[in-house]
Amino acid sequence: MFLKRIKLLRDEIKSNKAYPFSIPAISKLDEIHIEKNVTFFVGENGTGKSTLLEAIADKCDFNTAGGGRNNTYDVYASESELGNYIRLSWLPKISNGFFLRAESFYSFATHLDEVDNTGFRDYGGRSLHKQSHGESFLSLFLHRFKGRAIYLLDEPEAALSPSRQLTFLKIIHDLTVQGDTQFIIATHSPILLGYPNADIISFDDGKISKVEYESTDHFQVTKYFLNNREKFMEELLKDDE
Ligand SMILES: Nc1ncnc2c1ncn2[C@@H]1O[C@H](COP(=O)(O)OP(=O)(O)OP(=O)(O)O)[C@@H](O)[C@H]1O
Ligand SMILES: [Mg+2]
Repeated sequence: MFLKRIKLLRDEIKSNKAYPFSIPAISKLDEIHIEKNVTFFVGENGTGKSTLLEAIADKCDFNTAGGGRNNTYDVYASESELGNYIRLSWLPKISNGFFLRAESFYSFATHLDEVDNTGFRDYGGRSLHKQSHGESFLSLFLHRFKGRAIYLLDEPEAALSPSRQLTFLKIIHDLTVQGDTQFIIATHSPILLGYPNADIISFDDGKISKVEYESTDHFQVTKYFLNNREKFMEELLKDDE
């Protein structure tokens, strides 16, 4: 494990009203202690998970549009506002890693087509544009992810079928078992969240706090849905009186 603590530099904040401090969970952030090799960020849409993950990527000097340190390309509006207001504590400090943003992965693939001269060695031997969405994600996880590194992943499940999400968990496991790879993953996937020995950090209810798997909406809503699908749908879709 490398990244141990994320601290908000409260004294530097000029306005609490503007983004990103208008986000309730971010406005109350003091510090987050990272204790496991795998940490998940969960929470309702718009609670600030990507904002914080992007700020961490910014402080790691990864391209905030997605990529590692050496991936320089521009995507509209990929500046991190929060990056200037957080401090990361490392033990030890590393610089190797990758920031995966599902929404701008296409731009990353285009950038790679332009600069790669290794026959896409770290990406499964083929342009990411010539692989399906899920195949390209898995190629990245299987071939590019290795060694001492920190991986910041924003909704990696976006391209993955349920079975491939399980494959991905096995990849995470194989990479972290020696203890020299760290993951911070924002996710909505009840499958990914089920990874044992991970911490789950919730951004719900206007605060950032550690929660148990079974208490997440992702677990509860999915479980209820699968066990009571017909009743659930009947309730949800019934005409208003
Ligand atoms: N560049 C920006 N400028 C202003 N507001 C922003 C900006 N980026 C995000 N926001 C707002 O900040 C809030 C948090 O956004 P963020 O993308 O961090 O949420 P999230 O938890 O990742 O949500 P999701 O689960 O939908 O991905 C949202 O209300 C969003 O509209
Ligand atoms: Mg997000």
